[in-house]
Amino acid sequence: MKIGIDKIGFYTPHLYVDMNELAVARNVEPAKFTIGIGQEQMSVAPITQDAVTLAANAALEILDENDKEKIDLVIFGTESGIDHSKSAAVYVHHLLGINPQARSIELKQACYGATAAIQMAKGHIALNPESKVLVLGSDIARYGLNTSGESTQGAGAVAIVISAEPKIMALEDQSAFLTADIMDFWRPTYSDQAYVDGKFSNEQYIAFFSKVWEAYKEKTGHSIEDFEAICYHLPYTKMGLKALRTILDEGSEADKERLLANYEISKTYNKNVGNIYTGALYLSLLSLLEQKEDLKEGSRIGLFSYGSGAVGEFFTGILQPDFKAHLNVESHSNLFASRKEVSVGKYEEIFQESLPVDGSRIELDIDKDPATICLSGMADHMRLYVNKER
Ligand code: HMG
Repeated sequence: MKIGIDKIGFYTPHLYVDMNELAVARNVEPAKFTIGIGQEQMSVAPITQDAVTLAANAALEILDENDKEKIDLVIFGTESGIDHSKSAAVYVHHLLGINPQARSIELKQACYGATAAIQMAKGHIALNPESKVLVLGSDIARYGLNTSGESTQGAGAVAIVISAEPKIMALEDQSAFLTADIMDFWRPTYSDQAYVDGKFSNEQYIAFFSKVWEAYKEKTGHSIEDFEAICYHLPYTKMGLKALRTILDEGSEADKERLLANYEISKTYNKNVGNIYTGALYLSLLSLLEQKEDLKEGSRIGLFSYGSGAVGEFFTGILQPDFKAHLNVESHSNLFASRKEVSVGKYEEIFQESLPVDGSRIELDIDKDPATICLSGMADHMRLYVNKER
């Protein structure tokens, strides 16, 4: 039985900052952000969007009534959780009207969370082939104004349905993974901004890639020529390129050309969104699937997942017949086209907005947010959500 990605949805907030403008405001040469980091635009989440709403909006575009009936497990990978106890999955389960006979949980290991969720989902489907699993990867990356991580912020979510006989990509069984206790990036429970040792995090990302790539090749006997493309967790789009370059000499000139050309395509959405942590690898996969016109069924795609702290995994999938027919290219093109640019001043203002922490009531202006699902306010320490369609 094949198990894998049956559907994949994406959402990013309607506001963004141009990286050239941010560079000027920070007294940095724009080429540092656009070439050195490889980012062109950075999504900005208004106060009416959080990890829950981003994920719910991403799932909204892909789920039909049959999915809602068949889904019996919702796994929410995030490091932008809104509650230490209640899982973000329970809110999304309610907002989308998923079958009540489902398990809903949140899962955390930095940017690796959604990959862990996918691997768990695969095991669940192996035991329950008739069911479906909704995997969510949703985050708002915050390092702080005027920090060196600022240019690598972003906001967005992916929603993935994992099922038997998937329509888009079948996941292969072999994978290589690794855990090591390191402090390259972390966010203490009292902070809404991440702490990072930037250079160390880059080194560890490459070191993890190298170890899992070698382990994968040893386990499977596959080599670089067996891949049509390799997608990477993209905290910023130059990062994956640095990792890819470390293995290109293992292949022929044709392998190098193919992998580099496909890497360029696989960063299309990420360079205009920024880091979305758990969803970043799957946004890169989505860029490749939706933007490479001549991508063929049967192609093997490599996926490198990295979550600081750190856990890394290299795994693979095979594209299924007619997978293109099951993508939402037009709706994603509309999503990008309808975004609004905000000035650096406005972005700073939005960045500093916060919700009450004393239990007082607040009503947020959701008319300014075109998203279907929004955070509409807070009362008695509870977040209030609305689905404008229900
Ligand atoms: P920085 O110190 O400001 O930048 O921080 P830099 O000095 O290293 O420069 C960046 C690049 O721009 C360099 O290129 C420069 O040469 C180049 P490189 O040598 O790296 O190829 N550059 C220029 N290029 C063209 N024209 C110019 C110019 N000037 C300089 N004029 C850093 C960069 C990424 C470290 C910082 O933004 C940061 O700390 N970001 C957050 C951490 C991060 O993203 N780490 C990535 C690996 S860890 C990870 O992926 C996990 C994560 O997603 C979290 C999770 O798992 O939850 C972060």
